Amino acid sequence: MDAPLVLGIETSCDETGVGIVRGHELLADAVASSVDEHARFGGVVPEVASRAHLEAMVPTIERACDTAGISPHDVDAISVTSGPGLAGALLVGVAAAKALALGLGKPLYGVNHLASHVAVDQLEHGPLPEPCLAMLVSGGHSSLLRVEDVTVGVEPLGSTIDDAAGEAFDKVARLLGLPFPGGPHIDRAAREGDTVAIDFPRGLTSRRDLERHRFDFSFSGLKTAVARWVEMRERTGEPVPVADVAASFQEAVCDVLTRKALDAARDQGIEDLLIGGGVAANSRLRALAEERASSMGIRVRVPRPGLCTDNGAMVAALGAEMVARGRRPSSLDLPADSSQPVTEVLV
Ligand code: KG4
Ligand code: ZN
Repeated sequence: MDAPLVLGIETSCDETGVGIVRGHELLADAVASSVDEHARFGGVVPEVASRAHLEAMVPTIERACDTAGISPHDVDAISVTSGPGLAGALLVGVAAAKALALGLGKPLYGVNHLASHVAVDQLEHGPLPEPCLAMLVSGGHSSLLRVEDVTVGVEPLGSTIDDAAGEAFDKVARLLGLPFPGGPHIDRAAREGDTVAIDFPRGLTSRRDLERHRFDFSFSGLKTAVARWVEMRERTGEPVPVADVAASFQEAVCDVLTRKALDAARDQGIEDLLIGGGVAANSRLRALAEERASSMGIRVRVPRPGLCTDNGAMVAALGAEMVARGRRPSSLDLPADSSQPVTEVLV
């Protein structure tokens, strides 16, 4: 059989993504974002996101098909993010995918958003090493996963016990008066700053914490430390050195993420670290992971920034892998599951 042609739909948060792949080949990656509509609220407003998905869905499907030069009738399967994510937003994508699958008479695969962040790397770097150690860092999740076969399941080794890494970036950006979503703005501001200007805390790295939380993360204390530091500056009337705060904060996050990810890889005897999710677009995280991993003989794979943030191609990539490995399609009454566990890769 030829590599499967799959159309994937992603609507778990604020990006309406429709991707088309043939096996590991990316043919189209159309994304319509409602991020500007949320900016003034400083976070994604679920109802606004759902409505925007509804408006963007059909035009985005059409745009993806045009770019790929295919008709929807050509596809071998439809895949869709069934969870986790915002319930109302997920429902729009799942309903659209069911309608397409039913109308076209094609199989439907409801797949996990987090596993899709892992599978997307195949579009850039080819088949996933098996096993690989995946670090997923996004606005809603920060996890370390052992991935044997991404179409069967993933094994969680640790995750954040409070804020996600991206959430910390967004909250600290807000404190510094930078726009939402904050990650890219901190990344940019940090380039002009000093990473050792301020010694911010590294969560869950003390010897005692490591006993219970070796592969877990905590970013809420770091966020509070930044808030206190900024408040103190403001109280004494001194200017806040935005670039230095951004650089020192970013260094604290990237230091802990890379240290724990590489510790997990070594512990598991795995030589390939894959980083995915929106925060994987961070330039310092990419550089530091590369630097530290190479000294340990561990290879790092990170998709290009555009494939790290939410998109439809990642859902199509996982769908195509499901088809290629002969996994059973989902039933047409598959639910949208806002809290779908990371271990459930196919519904
Ligand atoms: O994976 P994603 O697009 O959506 C979720 O599933 O959450 O991740 C979005 C998150 C946001 O918190 C955003 O601030 C962060 O990824 N992000 C970044 C960068 N680009 C996006 N964080 C740090 N540095 C970046 N360059
Ligand atoms: Zn995501």
